[in-house]
Order: sequence, then C-alpha cells, then structure tokens
Amino acid sequence: MLRIRDKSWDFRGETAIIGIHGIHTYPAMMLPQIAKKLIEKYGRDKKTILDPFCDSGTVLVEGILSGKNAFRYDINPLAILISKVRITSLNVRTLLLETERIEEKLSIAQFNPKIFESVEVPKFFNIDYWFKPSVIKQLSFIKSVIGEVEDDNIRDFLFVAFSETVRKVSNTRDSEYKLFRIPESKLKSWNPNAIGIFLEILDRNVRFAVEYYPIITKLLDRISADVFWVTFETGLMFPPI
Ligand SMILES: C[S@@+](CC[C@H](N)C(=O)[O-])C[C@H]1O[C@@H](n2cnc3c(N)ncnc32)[C@H](O)[C@@H]1O
Repeated sequence: MLRIRDKSWDFRGETAIIGIHGIHTYPAMMLPQIAKKLIEKYGRDKKTILDPFCDSGTVLVEGILSGKNAFRYDINPLAILISKVRITSLNVRTLLLETERIEEKLSIAQFNPKIFESVEVPKFFNIDYWFKPSVIKQLSFIKSVIGEVEDDNIRDFLFVAFSETVRKVSNTRDSEYKLFRIPESKLKSWNPNAIGIFLEILDRNVRFAVEYYPIITKLLDRISADVFWVTFETGLMFPPI
C-alpha cells in the first residue's frame, strides 16, 4: 500500500482556540484552519454549506467568513446555543452597554453576599454533590442578572460565558471530559469565585466579539439577502462518517 503524506494538511501545533472560536471550550472541536482549507478546496464555487453535526460551529463560522450561507443541526442543546451565538449578528454597542451594566451589578454583589439571599436557587437531583452552596447562590444570581437582558441574541451571548463558568466552578475535575468529582480531600478547600470567573470569561469573549461581530454582521446581511430556496451544495462534518 502506498502512503502519501501531504504536509500541507499537517496542522500540528495549531490551536482551535482563536478569535470567536475561543468563546467556549468544547471537546473535539474541529480546527478552524482545517475547516477553512476544506471549504477553500471543495466549496470554492458553492453558496451553501451544511454541517449536520455542527457542535460549537467551527465549520459554520468558516463557511460564513468565506461568504457562504451556513446551516446546521446538532442533538446537543449546548452545541445549538454556542453555534447560534457564533453565527448570529449582534450589535456591539448594545453588547458593551449591557456588559457594563452586568459587570457593575455583579461586582457590587461580590462584596455584598447578602444580595444572593433574595435569589431563588434551582433544585435538581444531586445539585449539592456537583456544586458548593456558595457557588449555587452565585450562579443563581448571575443567571437572574442575565435573564433581565431583553435582547435575545445578547442574552444568549452572555449564557455562553455562563455555561463555561458553570463547568469551571462545579465540583468536577477540570482536566477531564468525563464527569468525575474532585476527590473529597481536595473538595474542602475548593471555593471557586463564580462571579470573578464569569467576569473574566465575559471580558475575554467581549474582546473577541468587538472584532468579530462587525465583520460577520455585514457578511450575514449580504448572504441572507441571497436566500430564496436552499439546496445544500457542500456538506462538511467532523469526524467524517
Ligand atoms: C465532533 S463534533 C463535530 C464538530 C463540528 N463539526 C465542528 O465544526 O467543530 C460531533 C457533534 O455531533 C453531535 N451529534 C452526535 N450525534 C448526533 C445526532 N444523532 N444528531 C445530531 N447531532 C449529533 C454531537 O452533539 C457533537 O456536537
């Protein structure tokens, strides 16, 4: 058997966490560099692209950036949320105003824990196993503050930062995809600052957003004006089936 090695497809050392692709860590993300190259090679003259297992939306973003109308499916609601946020227009000025309001509210609450007492906390099976009581209160407060945002797209953008925060401040081991709890001995000293972590993630995401949304918004306006009837001309999925 002849094995041909094409070095131009070697992306060793590259990262998937660049720009808008970095707004939420996600397992088994496709490298945007690979998606871009595949689209350039096989979809150059095509107008539409479908990713039937879209995950957090890497292929969709690269598709839109190359001027194509991108469509998606995924069975996982989190994948649908993150990919929606990546491929939907967003008004950066409104986002900055909302972010400022939220940061102010959360920073005040951080130093006045009594504020958390008024917030209703969710009840679900094993919540105390996966989260410390103070974390549950802080997360509930953050969620209630996000819930006050009227613009759906901005609210979803904020929920993406919230989702990453939930995973980071839970009692799960950080280094694994599978859900294992931090060992009992380490759990005692595990007191994450959910508000502080949320604010850091939000700040990072807003920095990506300020550069990305003006570009994608212009492209989406142009692309969607084109659509009358859709046939999928390019399908790109990872892993391949
Ligand atoms: C490895 S990811 C795909 C990566 C993605 N193409 C990208 O651009 O990053 C696989 C995705 O398939 C989704 N999936 C698995 N089974 C599915 C099914 N039966 N229907 C729809 N989506 C499914 C998973 O939820 C997961 O998000």
